Amino acid sequence: MERTTYAGLIDESYLGQTVHLTGWVQKRRDFGELVFVDLRDREGLLQLTFNAKHRGVMFVANDMRNEYVVAVTGTVVKRDPSQVNPKLRSGQVEVDVTSAKILAGAKTPPFYIEDGVNANEELKLKYRYLDLRRPEMQRNLRIRSKIMASAMQFMDSHDFINIETPDLAKSTPEGARDYLVPSRIFPGSFYALPQSPQLFKQLLMGAGFDRYFQIARCFRDEDLRGDRQPEFTQLDMETSFMSAQQIQELVNQWVKQIMHDVADFDLDTEKIDKLTWQESMDRFGTDKPDLRIDYEIHDLSEQVKDVEFGVFSRAVQDGGVVKALAVPGGADHYSRKDIDKLAQYIERFGAKGLAWLKYTDEGLTGPIAKFFTDEDKQAIIDGAQASQGDLILFGAGRRDIVAASLDALRRSTAAELDLIDTDRPWRFAWIVDWPLFEYSEDFGRWIAAHHPFTMPNEEDLHYLDEGEDPHQAHAQSYDLVLNGYELGSGSIRIHRTDIQEKMLKALGFTPDQAQEAFGFLLEGMEYGFPPMGGIALGLDRLAMLLAGRDNIRDVIAFPKNSRATEPMTEAPTTVSPKQLLELGLTVEEPED
Ligand code: AMO
Ligand code: AMP
Repeated sequence: MERTTYAGLIDESYLGQTVHLTGWVQKRRDFGELVFVDLRDREGLLQLTFNAKHRGVMFVANDMRNEYVVAVTGTVVKRDPSQVNPKLRSGQVEVDVTSAKILAGAKTPPFYIEDGVNANEELKLKYRYLDLRRPEMQRNLRIRSKIMASAMQFMDSHDFINIETPDLAKSTPEGARDYLVPSRIFPGSFYALPQSPQLFKQLLMGAGFDRYFQIARCFRDEDLRGDRQPEFTQLDMETSFMSAQQIQELVNQWVKQIMHDVADFDLDTEKIDKLTWQESMDRFGTDKPDLRIDYEIHDLSEQVKDVEFGVFSRAVQDGGVVKALAVPGGADHYSRKDIDKLAQYIERFGAKGLAWLKYTDEGLTGPIAKFFTDEDKQAIIDGAQASQGDLILFGAGRRDIVAASLDALRRSTAAELDLIDTDRPWRFAWIVDWPLFEYSEDFGRWIAAHHPFTMPNEEDLHYLDEGEDPHQAHAQSYDLVLNGYELGSGSIRIHRTDIQEKMLKALGFTPDQAQEAFGFLLEGMEYGFPPMGGIALGLDRLAMLLAGRDNIRDVIAFPKNSRATEPMTEAPTTVSPKQLLELGLTVEEPED
């Protein structure tokens, strides 16, 4: 018999009708003459009643257990008023079952399938298909699907052409570590899974498509975090002949449509902030500020460079900075013990301590208050823009450590004190005018801040010339930030060989190395490449934020755990000696 509709969609409009339904047993409650079964499908729950007055149904009801797959026929009736559940769409009604059939039995699941259930994360990943039965996971993946549909629709209606690029590609240096795929036909040679379609999309602009779009899988072998997975998905685009400003406008319209379609939110694109990278670092200590928090970091180096408190004066004299964060209402909220915990929390960024003052009705108080004159104190209050009741937290020392520490403190205190503005729940911001290069501790040298194909600012091109300091140059790159997450990153690209060669030279490539790594792109450029630019938005991160989660694992059907393995299939696994032989590979046991 054909299913009438989804069980979760049955409501009062079906009253009196005979319906045929299918789904899973969420719960069964047995009252002898009467058995209640909650039937679950992708749209929600529905209460079934099995009554001994209908011949035969009780045998089936008695056999039913959690997670059995069942089909039932029955009449939609009103629930007894004491049974009404206003939280469910079907909460006013139930189905009086007249016939029922078990379609499949089920073992007792290793955890109870319900939102908010406290089960071991690894176990939930091993039985991911069971965890995915939960309403919240179903909702998360539908949000993801809706984002894709909306993104596609927008791109199509703006004349973007959806073009797929290879997953078996060439390993190119820079960026993260590649995932490699050995070639059978050329033993010892490897494909690399793409970290992004970057070079291909530039070549597509070279080919004259003018507007490219793709929902692209990307692969990066890097350390995992809550917002990073080894394989993830980008909403990737590239355009020709557009300025950075025009691309940002277009992306504003794109995210506006997605926010409308998926979150039913009317995003006012006029209100999207645009900050230079420097301004963002100065005010928030990070290149991905959460603008829902309205207190900021203030530089007090000038005010405290000569104070008696050695931690501050020495920091400035040694070439560092002293910065402060006045946490609204923090004076009463934070005890010394709490502040010690904050200090411990920022040790991970290299912070050597956490100096603090409370601004109470007696002025600035705390163990270090004695080191400051009245004049110093006033300068600190003014400089930190503190009000009575605030807790002022200080970072002193190396600029990057102070920035990272105060950024983390700003976010954690705002969460603890409930100071995240909910009136404007979606704070998008553009971060522009990035440095062209950044120093990488990992590589032990300067690397491209975005990637090696990013166009320097017009007026900074000369920094790439012989004898100049390339690290002074800024780039035509832009990041889109949402609520403290880097949502997307893009730039205007270098489309001329002469500039590209200088850029690669500044990155330390010899002409031969450049040719070996990116020769196909450099050669392509010699055949007339248009000015171009684009961006890629992280689909997983956008879905995570729209689903109100803080880990992208929750919006990926089969994610990896923190050790980059997939507990259900147990990938990665060893392969047969025959497979290795065909690939010309031998595996050496790693030394412990
Ligand atoms: P980028 O490397 O900044 O730029 O990536 C763009 C966006 O992709 C998302 N992202 C990730 N999401 C989940 N897990 C990861 N490991 C991960 N890494 C990145 C982020 C990020 O903002 N080709 C350029 C884009 C361009 O210039 O057009 C690129 O890939 O949301
Ligand atoms: P000390 O003189 O080391 O006892 O430190 C006095 C106060 O300054 C303590 O509250 C420390 O936590 C704090 N402090 C020490 N080093 C730093 C630093 N680099 N930045 C901010 N506060 C610090």
